Amino acid sequence: MVRRVRFDWDAVDSTAWHHELPEFGAGANAVSLLMPHAEPFVIDAVRYFDDGTHEDRTAWMDQEAAHHGVHARFNRRLTAASRTARVLDRIGRWMFGRLGRRSPEFALAFAAAFEIVAFCSARWAESGLRRFFGGADPEAATIFLWHLAEEIEHKGIVHDLMADIPDARRQYRVAVFVACVVLLGFTAVGGVLLFASSGRRALNPLRWARLVGWGVSFAFVVLPVIGQSLGNDFHPDDLVDPPWMASWLREFDPATNTISRWDQAGLASPSASAFDAAA
Ligand SMILES: [Fe+2]
Ligand SMILES: [Fe+2]
Repeated sequence: MVRRVRFDWDAVDSTAWHHELPEFGAGANAVSLLMPHAEPFVIDAVRYFDDGTHEDRTAWMDQEAAHHGVHARFNRRLTAASRTARVLDRIGRWMFGRLGRRSPEFALAFAAAFEIVAFCSARWAESGLRRFFGGADPEAATIFLWHLAEEIEHKGIVHDLMADIPDARRQYRVAVFVACVVLLGFTAVGGVLLFASSGRRALNPLRWARLVGWGVSFAFVVLPVIGQSLGNDFHPDDLVDPPWMASWLREFDPATNTISRWDQAGLASPSASAFDAAA
């Protein structure tokens, strides 16, 4: 299902949306800067092999297109205000330009790996929902969480296509390594550079320690799943979904293209207990 969510862009200041944890905001902004380069790349990789008869695959492409469209809009103010963001944007374009020279099979394997990393990012984010997003501007946080929630929803689509293309399957090991270096490396370096250039609060060593701690805790989430994904009988559908995001997505209203803000969602529904457990 494609959700073209209408966000209140007047309420979103992408340069300073996380008031309590600007270091978290810097890492998330690095991810955002990469999306308008990474997601068109993975869409093209899937489209190359797509025969147009799979509705779920078409919906996947539409969801990813909606994601990078929203991130492009989010990034506009960021790149206008920050030279570091502009440099990172150029690096992202260059990296995916280079990856575009690889074979279509490698690109498809990369796309499957990208989806695993995206799923793990969602799982990690939900494990600390209130800790990570509680002090943030709720509209901006909703943008990131909507994207992550849809990554959970469509986690197996690219894997299924890759399983039908033996040359892509064979390249998965290398692709997942490259995907980790590109995605996690860019997020780590980009987040550090954006935070370092963000002003006085970057002088607080506690914030840097927190950044390192998040990196370690994310590694504990992503690495075991990457290891699992190397097995021949692995399928993303075997991964247990974090519960809150899926129930929140059900609050999308297609008549108005709106979804309840993340901090107002599910509190009166049976998902409330899951929400609290995730906090
Ligand atoms: Fe996406
Ligand atoms: Fe995705």
